[in-house]
Amino acid sequence: MKTQLENIYNSAKADISNAHTISDIDEIRLKYLSRKGEFNSIKKGLKDLSDEDKRTVGAFANQITEELENLLKEKHDSFYQKELNEKLQKDRIDITLSGKYIPQGKVHPLTSTTEEIVTIFQNMGFSVVSPELSPEVETEYYNFDMLNVPKDHPARDVQDTFYVKDMDGVVLRSQTSGAQIHIMENQKPPIKVIAPGRVYRNENINARKNNFFHQIEGLYVDKGITFGDLKGDLNEFIRLYFGSTRPTRFRSSFFPFTEPSAEVDVQCIMCQGKGCRTCSGTGWLEVLGCGMVDVNVLRGVGIDPDVYTGFAFGMGVERLAMLKYAIDDIRLFFNNDKRFLEQF
Ligand code: DAH
Repeated sequence: MKTQLENIYNSAKADISNAHTISDIDEIRLKYLSRKGEFNSIKKGLKDLSDEDKRTVGAFANQITEELENLLKEKHDSFYQKELNEKLQKDRIDITLSGKYIPQGKVHPLTSTTEEIVTIFQNMGFSVVSPELSPEVETEYYNFDMLNVPKDHPARDVQDTFYVKDMDGVVLRSQTSGAQIHIMENQKPPIKVIAPGRVYRNENINARKNNFFHQIEGLYVDKGITFGDLKGDLNEFIRLYFGSTRPTRFRSSFFPFTEPSAEVDVQCIMCQGKGCRTCSGTGWLEVLGCGMVDVNVLRGVGIDPDVYTGFAFGMGVERLAMLKYAIDDIRLFFNNDKRFLEQF
């Protein structure tokens, strides 16, 4: 009987050393140590032994049972630890892992350029007109008539201006200058305002022209405003926008709504004045139009030109951005190509 016990003990030990998981260990315990297990069925035979043998074999049986219990417990614990570690490893949250990259949006260069220009003029005492005084859908009356533009002026042609279908005399504004009229109709001098906004022209689209773009209109009307004030303010603007080292010039020009009129040029940023394709060989680039508000315009809105004078100006935002950042194609502003927009 002792040999039987030894055999079972050995085979149990062999099973234990072959076990790999906790459930293997549970199975072994069931197989050998449970009530219906192998040891118990042998131990049942104890009662048939002599008292002497009962004691020694019984003690031996208890001893190996205890040893097996210990072995099983040891194995069980080490498997438990191992399985726990594996589970912890598998479910581990790596808090040092960096987060998902969410690309940040950026301000469009036309928006930032507009903001920059507006800020410069605000610092000079100009305020931004409210949008209802600067509508994009205009009447010919505001876009042309009140600005002293003759009925037969080529800018009125359908080849230049978009007319709204089936609405007589309604246009998509071709310039922000109409805002001047709205403002002067609504406000008595002193008036010192700017009006940024989108304008539309019936153009063939190319690198220099788009059929919509953006302008910033300026108007300063008060007693005793002179061309000197105009020059002073616009020179200051150009100095702040382009930097003090870029040469500029005032060139006499013509606009129906100003008299006298001028255009302001800055030295070409591509060739530094030597003459190139961008500046058509002149060395200069036109950046804005301006002048003293025409007496006909003032009279039209009921402002007495013998009491008040004023200056006005208008500039293209795309053009100013192109000159500052050396952008050679206006269409880049409207394509929404991230490779372009990300550079700002
Ligand atoms: N409206 C003109 C244009 O679109 C620009 C301009 C010139 C505006 C002279 C003015 C000005 O206010 O005085 O080309």
